[in-house]
Amino acid sequence: MKRILTGDRPTGNLHIGHYFGSLKKRVELQKDPNNEIFIEIADVQALTDNFNNPEKVRKNVREVVIDYLSVGIDPNKVTIFIQSMIPEIAELTVFYSNLVTIARLERNPTVKTEIAQKRDLFGESVTYGFLGYPISQAADITAFNGEIIPVGEDQLPLIEQCREIVRKFNNIYGEVLTEPVAVLSSATRVKGLDGNSKMGKSLGNAIYLCDSEDTITKKVMSAITDPNRIKKDDYGNPDICMVYHYHQLFTDKKDVENICKECKAGKRGCVACKKELAKNIINEFKTVREKRDYYENHLDEVDKILLEGTKRAQGEAKKNIKRIKESMKLDYFSGSDKNDIPRL
Ligand code: TRP
Repeated sequence: MKRILTGDRPTGNLHIGHYFGSLKKRVELQKDPNNEIFIEIADVQALTDNFNNPEKVRKNVREVVIDYLSVGIDPNKVTIFIQSMIPEIAELTVFYSNLVTIARLERNPTVKTEIAQKRDLFGESVTYGFLGYPISQAADITAFNGEIIPVGEDQLPLIEQCREIVRKFNNIYGEVLTEPVAVLSSATRVKGLDGNSKMGKSLGNAIYLCDSEDTITKKVMSAITDPNRIKKDDYGNPDICMVYHYHQLFTDKKDVENICKECKAGKRGCVACKKELAKNIINEFKTVREKRDYYENHLDEVDKILLEGTKRAQGEAKKNIKRIKESMKLDYFSGSDKNDIPRL
């Protein structure tokens, strides 16, 4: 069996960047019966930069689960759980903080970039919690003995830091933790409607999996095309056109070749090209929207899936922390009746 662990911060609905970047890969991974997959809804991590907005985090826990279920993540094959309901993660975070220096956290490229982006929230001095979130992410992974961690490129420095923590821990306390490996979930990077190299919820340039047909059409009509193309018969440059970028994701290969040729020859109008794209996106996500519709009307089922997944995850974390605490000599009274360990 291979233990796979990954997660998302519940700070907004998932968009087509997530779909091509990670969700498709997860659906594929769940087909292999040798994969044991855990997906964490990282609400505690979301609070590190949304501590002043708990309602947003709470609401998005359920939204993200509905997004997962809508794209076909199967709760019978995958354990979906809520981070804050696993107290062992918080415990491990405290233990691992002894093994990480502040300088090392400040050097983490992902943390560095994010701090620069969050000046509005943090001003000149970042919180202890945010600076330390790589430690809590190492706890997320090791609480479940995660071996394979499918992530996007931006997450690689966090997995590297987790590996360092694991090595240091094992050096001091014995070979207890598994050193995880990151695998890139996908090479596909989806650009924003505005031409930004990244599609992001905070950038306002995303097409969401939950967008209605109308919204998808409106968004596609507003997408950035080759700015030098003013008249319909101007020669176009598909390489700088977002509509062409999305055609490559949603349109049959043969048609894409044709679109490219016609655009370059000035034989294809942008409006028609956008309409065709909108139709294809709407088609691709038809069943996703239908499933979302179903779950929105069966929220009790969503909650049940989340609760059952979280219970399964709780059992797993409990098993693992026992060994970890033993190795740290924190196994007081473990010789006494196992069902009656004092907890003061
Ligand atoms: N930091 C990840 C993100 O922002 C989410 C996450 C939390 C995660 N815990 C994790 C990813 C553990 C992989 C493993 O996307």
